[in-house]
Amino acid sequence: MIDLLLVVGVHGTLFSLFKQRASFPGGLDGQTAWLLSVAPLYFIAKAGFLPGRLVLQGLAGSLVWFYRTASLSMISERNIYLQSLYLYIAASVLSSLYAAFLGPLRKIPGPLFAKLSSYYLPYHLLFRSTNFTKLFSRLHAQYGPVIRIGPNEVHAATLDAYNTIYNQRFDKEPTLYKCFGEDESSFGELTYAAMKARKDRLSGLFTRSGVKGLEHVIRANVDRTVDRLAQECFTSQSSTDFLLAMKCLAVNVITTFCFAKDIGAIDAPGFRAPIILAMEASLFNFLVFMNFPLANKIIFSLPMWLSWIIAPELSGLFDLQLLLQGQIDELKANPARLESVPHKTIYHPLLASGTRKSLYEEGQAMLFGGTDTVSNTAMLLVFYVLSTPGVEEKLLDELRAVWPDKTSEIPSWDALEKLPYLTAVIKEALRLTPGVPAGLKRVVGKGGIFVVEGVWIPEGTVIHGSGHMVNLDETLWKEPRKFRPGRWLVGKEERRAMEANLVTFSRGPRMCMGIK
Ligand code: HEM
Repeated sequence: MIDLLLVVGVHGTLFSLFKQRASFPGGLDGQTAWLLSVAPLYFIAKAGFLPGRLVLQGLAGSLVWFYRTASLSMISERNIYLQSLYLYIAASVLSSLYAAFLGPLRKIPGPLFAKLSSYYLPYHLLFRSTNFTKLFSRLHAQYGPVIRIGPNEVHAATLDAYNTIYNQRFDKEPTLYKCFGEDESSFGELTYAAMKARKDRLSGLFTRSGVKGLEHVIRANVDRTVDRLAQECFTSQSSTDFLLAMKCLAVNVITTFCFAKDIGAIDAPGFRAPIILAMEASLFNFLVFMNFPLANKIIFSLPMWLSWIIAPELSGLFDLQLLLQGQIDELKANPARLESVPHKTIYHPLLASGTRKSLYEEGQAMLFGGTDTVSNTAMLLVFYVLSTPGVEEKLLDELRAVWPDKTSEIPSWDALEKLPYLTAVIKEALRLTPGVPAGLKRVVGKGGIFVVEGVWIPEGTVIHGSGHMVNLDETLWKEPRKFRPGRWLVGKEERRAMEANLVTFSRGPRMCMGIK
């Protein structure tokens, strides 16, 4: 609606301006003024400030108007806003009705509100205090495995559909992915082709040997977090927030990994590091941005000092942005300084060809991609280990065999990954974690797809599946909501088959880079 009013406002104002020229000798008539006022809208939409769909509707409205009136010079500037509003609303209603009842998705079941309007999802997420998983589970139970959740948007619940969608090289959907302000990162690049080149350059950092090169960083940060937890809980005799502690651990490892910069999040009192609080606060903003792209565009176009005033809760993020941009500028001016960094960072493969913006955005993508996901999973794992009868004892017995003396150094990654029960506990936590619960939207490419047998989805449709729903699907997992690490202690073949059903890190060409 805000978008609609903006289109109308911009269009009406431009029309008035152009039409006033008509009183001058050789000035413009109404028709020319109308046409001239529509044209800039096209460019404003192309720059991403207005939704192209609305501008198209505006053009359609113009045609109807031309047809109905012999000359637009009859229209006064005073009523232009109102007339323009009627036209846009009429065009919106008509296009919604077409999409719901006549368009190519008309046979896909779903709530009427969703078939008619793309505000169905934002309404439920922002005003009905629900979340993606709860909402989609309820809708799939009511309408079946493939459902309509917007005039041009479909959600699918099954593993087959998930594999079909994500194993393609479909583009990421711009409204969602642009809302993070990471357009030039491997996560935010919309097309497979653009992402591939960047991902290839970064891939060395994410291989087994790349991650092994960072083992000392991870160990040092884990040790520090354990010391700080002890200090918070035992020395000060109070409780502390374990999830925040895990977030601080994850963010410290990632900033060191990406930028060779220890930002000291772990040392913050109560683990309330400004960067973590800012990331928490920004999650709601992303929900707004992803549904109201115009707000997103405006906020990201503001100078930093103004953003600071408008959104002080995000100051931790702005601080980090300033710090890292300074670091990038220094490295750009003097690339030889990279040689003194003790391990590989994202700057090593990207500095030579990457812009300042793309370097920062890559780091931010890693920060957001690896902090909540890792910390939620770690917290869930600890919760289930402590609360599921028998698990803690079994895990400790196995760990004691390779690490009899707690005060000695933690066994190596090589040694730990050979422990079957520990591996099973991690797999089970990865199965139960919500991971990335938001729909990972893709745009169906040329030729369309059969998302499940007999259900055809045409090119251009926005489509997504839910990894969390697949990981909890009772046709794939026995007692799916129970934490049962023992389910993974089976023969190699059976375990492989189970791994093929686990989609926490997504699938296909855009699956997680941080999987190791
Ligand atoms: C338990 C931990 C993690 C989970 C559950 C997870 C999950 C995911 C998922 C589902 C995607 C697909 C997103 C999409 O399609 O848009 C993804 C992508 C990605 N993840 Fe992770 N992730 C985890 C940890 C990490 C870590 C630690 C890093 C890096 C430090 C990382 C970096 C990335 C990147 C760069 C992408 C984008 C890949 C692309 O678009 O081609 N992730 N992750």
